[in-house]
Amino acid sequence: MLSVFLLLFLSCIPFSPAATTGNNITLPGCPSKCGNLTIPYPFGIASGCSVGPWFHITCNTSFNPPKPFLSAELFSYSGDSQFHRVEVVDISDEHVRVKNIVATKCYNETGSVIQDSASGLVVQNSYFTISELNKVIAVGCDDYSFVSPISGIEGKNFSSGCVSVCSNVQDVPVGSCSGMGCCSTSVPNGLTTYLANVFTLNAHTEIWSFNKCGYTFLGEESAFTFRGASDFVDPDFVSRTAETVPVVLNWVIGSRSCKDYKTTTDYYCQQNSVCVDFTSGKGGYRCSCESGYEGNPYLPPGCHDIDECADPNNNPCNGTCTNLPGSFNCSCPHGYEGDGTKDGSGCRATNSKSPVLKLSLGMGFGFLSILIGVGWLYFSHQRRKVIKLREKYFLKNGGMLLKQQIDTNEGGGVNQSTKIFTTEELEKATKNFSEDRILGRGGYGTVYKGILADGNIVAIKKSRVMDESQIEQFINEVVILTQINHRNVVKLLGCCLESEVPLLVYECVSNGTLFHHIHTNGGMAWLSWDNRLRIAIESAGALAYLHSAASKPIIHRDVKSANILLDDHLVTKISDFGASRLIPLDQTQVTTLVQGTLGYLDPEYFHTSQLTDKSDVYSFAIVLLELLTGKKPLSMERIQAERNLAAYFLVSMKTNSLFQILDPRVVREGSLEQLQAIASLVKRCLNMNGYDRPTMKEVAMQLEGLRKFTKQPWVNSQQGSEDGLSRMSEGEHSDLYDVSINPFMDSVEASSFYSSDQFRSLYPIDEPR
Ligand SMILES: *[C@@H]1O[C@H](CO)[C@@H](O)[C@H](O)[C@H]1NC(C)=O
Ligand SMILES: *[C@@H]1O[C@H](CO)[C@@H](O)[C@H](O)[C@H]1NC(C)=O
Ligand SMILES: *[C@@H]1O[C@H](CO)[C@@H](O)[C@H](O)[C@H]1NC(C)=O
Ligand SMILES: *[C@@H]1O[C@H](CO)[C@@H](O)[C@H](O)[C@H]1NC(C)=O
Ligand SMILES: *[C@@H]1O[C@H](CO)[C@@H](O)[C@H](O)[C@H]1NC(C)=O
Ligand SMILES: *[C@@H]1O[C@H](CO)[C@@H](O)[C@H](O)[C@H]1NC(C)=O
Ligand SMILES: *[C@@H]1O[C@H](CO)[C@@H](O)[C@H](O)[C@H]1NC(C)=O
Repeated sequence: MLSVFLLLFLSCIPFSPAATTGNNITLPGCPSKCGNLTIPYPFGIASGCSVGPWFHITCNTSFNPPKPFLSAELFSYSGDSQFHRVEVVDISDEHVRVKNIVATKCYNETGSVIQDSASGLVVQNSYFTISELNKVIAVGCDDYSFVSPISGIEGKNFSSGCVSVCSNVQDVPVGSCSGMGCCSTSVPNGLTTYLANVFTLNAHTEIWSFNKCGYTFLGEESAFTFRGASDFVDPDFVSRTAETVPVVLNWVIGSRSCKDYKTTTDYYCQQNSVCVDFTSGKGGYRCSCESGYEGNPYLPPGCHDIDECADPNNNPCNGTCTNLPGSFNCSCPHGYEGDGTKDGSGCRATNSKSPVLKLSLGMGFGFLSILIGVGWLYFSHQRRKVIKLREKYFLKNGGMLLKQQIDTNEGGGVNQSTKIFTTEELEKATKNFSEDRILGRGGYGTVYKGILADGNIVAIKKSRVMDESQIEQFINEVVILTQINHRNVVKLLGCCLESEVPLLVYECVSNGTLFHHIHTNGGMAWLSWDNRLRIAIESAGALAYLHSAASKPIIHRDVKSANILLDDHLVTKISDFGASRLIPLDQTQVTTLVQGTLGYLDPEYFHTSQLTDKSDVYSFAIVLLELLTGKKPLSMERIQAERNLAAYFLVSMKTNSLFQILDPRVVREGSLEQLQAIASLVKRCLNMNGYDRPTMKEVAMQLEGLRKFTKQPWVNSQQGSEDGLSRMSEGEHSDLYDVSINPFMDSVEASSFYSSDQFRSLYPIDEPR
């Protein structure tokens, strides 16, 4: 028995590189290669060959050899106004390596910038995250790198960078990135976007003779070797680095744990494989062959046994080798004893005892009991600490701050019905935050469905991590929402500050986001022109109310279709006030860190950091465009000139080809007057100069005015809403691929810095004259 036990340990052969070896690589009938790259399942090239949209690889055969690209929703960015599709260079069991872009700034002798580009990547809303195997690397003698998320990550306002300096060329070491001519710094695991830029201290004027450019990029650290000063003058440095130093992405399936998927059709681990939770980042799982098995763990019928004894020249046994499922058995010839393995006790003539073994076994058990004892002591101590902790959390989570805010706002109409919930109440309501109560997960955290003691169904938002900067945002959201009582704004019922991370309790808005309804299967059946107009009017009314009717003007700051929820009756509810700001009455604008979502962000706000209510007007116009065209604000599936929806729309207006970009259903159902009026309204809202944009109130009134053009009264029919619901639950991949099902997901919780140069290139919008 003992020897069997030992054998199992000894035969713990390192996990085989499962997905890339074995006979089967893809589903039957699917191509396995794009150019030189092998594409193993769950990735796949043709339709139906991958487990879902994020694993779909587009193979562009107009290159020789053909080049593989990631899903069109993900893109990289080079700062010369170019969005690019992300080229894949390698797929392994845990990582996808993608082609890099190097941010460059070159100077002339007098220190003027003569070449400027940035480097960025957006894999938000997919199951990819940026790996910690990457580092931010800067090369140059008078430079520093600056890397930040493009539109916020997991509730952290991360930014990072390093400084690289040197005063003469002899100082620059070859092969070491130590701060002299080259520097590097780490990035947190789980990033989903970044934008890297390189800046200078003295415009290269003192070192221009041997170093004219600064470079920075985020890439796989182990793939980069700094070649010293020769890199400064190498004309191929940028292209060679982009080619050889990839960005490493982690890939996982789904966004929840093995336990959640095990009984669903979204569980892909086959026989003889184990499911491994991916704990850092956004969750999700991967499959891995059990030890002693190899093959692709995602492909039926699963991993197959390794015949360890097959190769007589590389036999693991000293004695006789017998292959067993998942392992092998070594035995010694008659008259010998031992475990028979080469690296174990081998085979020795009988009667040599092993007292060492007994001793170590005894010590093992002793140690185990000590561990158990210590563990028990630890846990009983922990229990006593819980009560103290709760008090501590209350304070840490801004309990005092909230009290203060409520006190100072007393005259301002704080809704007294806001309730402070206890941890017990919410634990009970969510069955102890059980996985089957999860409505969705997002960058911010997790939203659970809760059933309160009085039978009311609520949505409970639990943030992932809590740092000081987030507390303020959290309290901010509580304070803002408690002051609002509007039919089209999601209602905050209360909060709980005693748990480790604070919890917010909302009314449950169960029918998903507007984003989901517009962009799933080309739009839901109920999304008629009348319903679109109604949603536009309701949202505009709610925003106008926030801007003017509330006691202090509130700017939402992150208006987008993913933050517009729909309830059972398809009534609009604006949500996510984490980024919103109260504007003091005597001011019309405040200076803030730029926040928002790429594709919706107001360019003027971006340039000036001056936040006004007109920033919301710009973002709202993008939502109107989504309703009108059914297209996403930013999409790599469209050709270069059409990637940015706002720019595409303005060009269409200018060239009188508006009707080509409108959703055919909108053209069919809307009247010409309505469409012309709404298009010119959108155009005014997209004005580069915020002053020339209409106010939200004007927008709401104009939209309301459009209703009278409608021939028949609009129908918010029960029929329509049922259609919408059934379409939603029928989804081919259930909610595994439905990243927008979470009502609170996809919000911007982090501040990030942008320079106006970065912005100008992010928003290549030429205003039509
Ligand atoms: C490869 O796939 C086929 C069809 O699914 C299956 O019959 C066969 O056993 C697989 N081979 C291996 C080595 O997994
Ligand atoms: C791709 O394959 C072709 C032909 O097999 C070969 O010439 C080329 O060097 C390969 N390219 C890479 C990047 O491996
Ligand atoms: C393939 O690449 C070419 C050249 O970059 C591009 O014009 C074409 O649209 C691409 N095809 C697909 C299907 O993406
Ligand atoms: C550097 O560029 C600036 C701006 O383009 C220009 O005014 C200046 O003359 C240039 N200096 C040299 C030495 O070329
Ligand atoms: C995070 O945000 C806070 C305020 O929003 C700011 O003071 C702080 O500098 C930021 N930290 C980083 C690392 O960006
Ligand atoms: C290994 O082989 C020996 C000798 O044939 C046998 O006695 C032993 O039970 C086998 N062990 C296992 C786990 O099959
Ligand atoms: C291997 O087995 C032989 C007998 O078959 C024995 O003489 C020898 O010592 C063993 N070697 C090891 C490393 O156990």
